[in-house]
Amino acid sequence: MKVVGFVLMTMMVAGVVQGLDNGLALTPPMGWLAWERFRCNVDCVNDPQNCISESLFMVMADLMVSEGYRDLGYDIVSLDDCWLDHERDDEGKLQPDPTRFPSGIASLANYMHDRKLRFGIYEDYGSHTCAGYPGILGHLETDARTFADWGVDYVKLDGCNADPADMDEGYPAFGYHLNKTGRPMMYSCSWPDYQALTGMTPNYTAIINTCNLWRNYNDIQDSWASVTAIIDHYGDKQDFMVPHAGPGHWNDPDMLIVGNFGLSYEQSKTQMAIWAILSAPLIMSVDLRTIRPEYKAILQNRDIIAVNQDPLGIQGKRIYKENGIEIWSKPVTPVKHGNHSYALAFMNRKDDGTPTKVSHSLRSLGLTSPDGYVITDLYDHLQYGTVLPDDQLVLEVNPSGVVILSCRLVVAT
Ligand code: GLA
Repeated sequence: MKVVGFVLMTMMVAGVVQGLDNGLALTPPMGWLAWERFRCNVDCVNDPQNCISESLFMVMADLMVSEGYRDLGYDIVSLDDCWLDHERDDEGKLQPDPTRFPSGIASLANYMHDRKLRFGIYEDYGSHTCAGYPGILGHLETDARTFADWGVDYVKLDGCNADPADMDEGYPAFGYHLNKTGRPMMYSCSWPDYQALTGMTPNYTAIINTCNLWRNYNDIQDSWASVTAIIDHYGDKQDFMVPHAGPGHWNDPDMLIVGNFGLSYEQSKTQMAIWAILSAPLIMSVDLRTIRPEYKAILQNRDIIAVNQDPLGIQGKRIYKENGIEIWSKPVTPVKHGNHSYALAFMNRKDDGTPTKVSHSLRSLGLTSPDGYVITDLYDHLQYGTVLPDDQLVLEVNPSGVVILSCRLVVAT
């Protein structure tokens, strides 16, 4: 059972590691991460507005607050690769690039905390990060301590330049050192992703007991092809993956790219809806200075965020896939007499230019409560009223778009 508050329960006995129990991420983490949009741009001389520097993170933090993201739950602002100096300091500690982070990381963490935001950092289990900066291998205890001293709240630990076979020991060992600091830090792992890439079968029992979230598939890129490849992966592997997700431990299909260059308006709505159904971490990677209002509205859709943040924490599934139409279903609260409410997403994978009519009874989608469901469209807020299990639900779904419905159980008095 997860316990709220910090409890040190990690033990290493004969190579068996038990337990992350840090009380964090009881619903999927929400925030902002630099990587997908800003990458490893270190050229602050020629591109000061977009390079990886403390001012970029401070500007984004200010916008998280002033534009209302934080108050909707997006409360983590995280570094990704390329924040480090190429050398450790004289005491063997990590240090940021001094020209791009002149105030230091503790000061940047304070900046976040002063704004009621949480501060995330990136490192890599191997000898070097993916971009070639120092990794934590050989320094696990020191680096965990440094992160705690700096006031870090969230650690993304990548897996480049490491042997995936070592990760079953290494990721839990770093988790142990994080816990030992006494500072609750969310732990985001890339462990299963790197193991799967080499054909290993990740040990999810250990992963769940170590990490609050984990990547298990390719990096997201700024394209619809990338988003749909991830959606397909999650659909195809759902029977294996869904049981691993729940309060405190989540599958991470990678960042939201809504508001960038690669997705249309319809495709952006689809990514947000499917990420909500998947109980995915909602980690935006977008330039909050220039995002267009209609994309901001997608990211800020309260009802879809509520689907994602439902306290049951059940990862949804693809329950129908035929003729270019997919239906995804997530059980949510309220629950009564064993019947759940649901969020349903109808996704149109076709590109034939005109909306597709979709018609199903609720019963055929597994919604069988005899008193029916109050149904609302979460993007256009159309109310369908109370729909009974054998009523026919008829929808029009735009090409590469989605309709996402809240189906709230009617509880007879
Ligand atoms: C890997 C990760 C990405 C990002 C980059 C940084 O590819 O999967 O999310 O952190 O490294 O180099």
